[in-house]
Amino acid sequence: MNKPPKILLVGCGNMGQALLKGWLEQGWARSDIQVVEPDKDAQSTIESLGVEVSGARVANTHAEVVVLAVKPQQLKIVLPDYLDFTEKGHVFLSIAAGRPIAFYESILGSQISIVRGMPNMSASIGQSMTVLVGNSMVDHRQHEACEAVMAAVGRVAWLEDESLMNTVTAISGSGPAYVFLLIESLAAAGIDMGLSRELAAELALATVAGASVLAINSEVDPAELRRQVTSPGGTTEAALAVLMDNNALLELMKEAVHAATERGQDLA
Ligand SMILES: NC(=O)c1ccc[n+]([C@@H]2O[C@H](COP(=O)([O-])OP(=O)(O)OC[C@H]3O[C@@H](n4cnc5c(N)ncnc54)[C@H](OP(=O)(O)O)[C@@H]3O)[C@@H](O)[C@H]2O)c1
Repeated sequence: MNKPPKILLVGCGNMGQALLKGWLEQGWARSDIQVVEPDKDAQSTIESLGVEVSGARVANTHAEVVVLAVKPQQLKIVLPDYLDFTEKGHVFLSIAAGRPIAFYESILGSQISIVRGMPNMSASIGQSMTVLVGNSMVDHRQHEACEAVMAAVGRVAWLEDESLMNTVTAISGSGPAYVFLLIESLAAAGIDMGLSRELAAELALATVAGASVLAINSEVDPAELRRQVTSPGGTTEAALAVLMDNNALLELMKEAVHAATERGQDLA
């Protein structure tokens, strides 16, 4: 994409601000971004970044992409405000968790270009993993525009089958929490074995961070990396024998992802 798309951002809380920061860091012109956000504190933050913000719906926009970053439960109130935008060729890109494309179509109409996205909280440091899925109205240009919008805060992948979005949410949306639990658990195990709280926390955090960067930059997959650090008869092998006994960790992870996927289906 040659020129970044013009954006109307509706909702600028945690995720909206992460996106805004990403766009500005990627060199978006401030004049190409409009924000709607009712919260006064958030408005001050947005204004301090030199971006135009309105407390309520804007009557007109030059935006190509309308990014919806309000809470899922706020959408029913927010979407009707933008009904008259639906004849102007915008693509609506919503990052609200759980709401299917059919939900937006039921309010905006089925002839509207709609993209649903699931980023994660690492967007706040430009390290999100976002998965996008669009309806059949999304054309090539809108596809590229939505990808550029989310690529400003990390990696982007597209899904063909929307029914897998709850599983995506269970992996990459909720995933940061699983990794935080891993860090907590590793530290707690260290404390249990006599390490100080501070040292155990530092060891656990630095180990997960270092291993993640190593895995990202490696030419081999994580399973091969694991084999490379597991000497026969060594300490790592002793620990993995516990974690992998009857696929213990794998089965637990599958159960957790299954539970999160089902919960996503219930909430939709
Ligand atoms: N946070 C995450 O890690 C994460 C991950 C993936 C997806 N998401 C999705 O991202 C969306 C935003 O999440 P968040 O954590 O950023 O929520 P948030 O911090 O509550 O941000 C939502 C913002 O929208 C504002 N808002 C309410 N009504 C509005 C209106 N009519 N027009 C414009 N703005 C309005 C809210 O203002 P008030 O506070 O005044 O109501 C709030 O500042 C959610 O749908 C969530 O499912 C979040």
